[in-house]
Amino acid sequence: MTVADRQLGVFDSVADAIGNTPLIRLNRVTEGITATVYLKLEYLNPFGSVKDRAARAMIDAAEAAGELRPGGTVVESTSGNTGIALAAIAASRGYRTIVVVPDKSSAEKLALLRAYGVEVHVTAGGLPRQHPDFLKNVALRLAADIPGAWYSGQYDNPANPAAHRETTGPEVWSQTGGRITHFVTGIGTGGTITGTGEYLKSVSRGQVRVIGADPESSIYSGGDGHAWYVESIGHYLHPRTDTDEWPQSYHPEVVDRIERIPDAEAFEVLRRLAGEEGLLVGGSTGTAVAAALRVARAGSRRRGGGHRAGLGAQLPVQILRPTVAGTLGFRCRAHRTWPSCRRPGCGRGGRGRSGGRSVGCDRGAGP
Ligand SMILES: Cc1ncc(COP(=O)(O)O)c(C=O)c1O
Repeated sequence: MTVADRQLGVFDSVADAIGNTPLIRLNRVTEGITATVYLKLEYLNPFGSVKDRAARAMIDAAEAAGELRPGGTVVESTSGNTGIALAAIAASRGYRTIVVVPDKSSAEKLALLRAYGVEVHVTAGGLPRQHPDFLKNVALRLAADIPGAWYSGQYDNPANPAAHRETTGPEVWSQTGGRITHFVTGIGTGGTITGTGEYLKSVSRGQVRVIGADPESSIYSGGDGHAWYVESIGHYLHPRTDTDEWPQSYHPEVVDRIERIPDAEAFEVLRRLAGEEGLLVGGSTGTAVAAALRVARAGSRRRGGGHRAGLGAQLPVQILRPTVAGTLGFRCRAHRTWPSCRRPGCGRGGRGRSGGRSVGCDRGAGP
């Protein structure tokens, strides 16, 4: 494949079409804000989310290291976007895929994985990390028992942040002509914020500020770890977990600040993104944009208002948009996200907690 082919949109395989997603300026939800805010449309990746990048990089690295060979099996524990991306890339390269999912995963998600030919193993959700049937432990056992199996381990796989250092970061820098001042995104495995943030800091000689957007109760930003509604981001702590572990894909030192965003604020912003910008997005994007708008508002106040200025002159805020809306009603995040199909009490700011931990909503799916 030549550079010209890439420019024409001609690719040797579907995985080669990952990346180079557009940046879209937000025009209406930013009313009254002088900063320019862009959203990077990661849902335009072939398998529908930012996780396409990490999945391709992890598979490429495993192939290069000889850990994944022809006829091999990809194993991951997730009901989220990483499983979908891994499954699709594995299918295109002739590998079998096994995904271990919690029993509360929606039927739509399981159908989506099975459509890619995934062998889905359902295990009990809501278990502490040390439990033998905790999702990851089941996946590790399967990977150990199946000849030729490889556990992708997105939470601790260095290829995950590396994917963003090598693709997302350089794309954002060149799309903004190097004028980006702030980069805002959610933190799930931490691969996106780590890799993109490290690249942007390095290329800008430390000028770009990296801001995390975190669900209010997530451990990453100092919450107590009780469940929240938005999917794919944050760090949950099971009340009976013995030892909490943060992902090695997340390098907290790259983050300058974290905005803590309640579910209600994230949902309000995502409704506005659909109704005012034509961008049908999920909860993690609502969270990231809510954080970016806070940052942009603060910057606008400091500069005393004025009209919208170009990048660099005021406070451009770069938001990575790491969520997928997919086709409404197909991906289950749509039914979790949109008010017409939400269960009562979910995602309205009230968390329905009882006894400090249990919630009215299931813990959102992980990355
Ligand atoms: C939609 C979406 N947004 C954000 C994230 C978080 O990205 P990361 O795992 O790189 O921190 C994920 C992870 O799967 C995701 O699926």
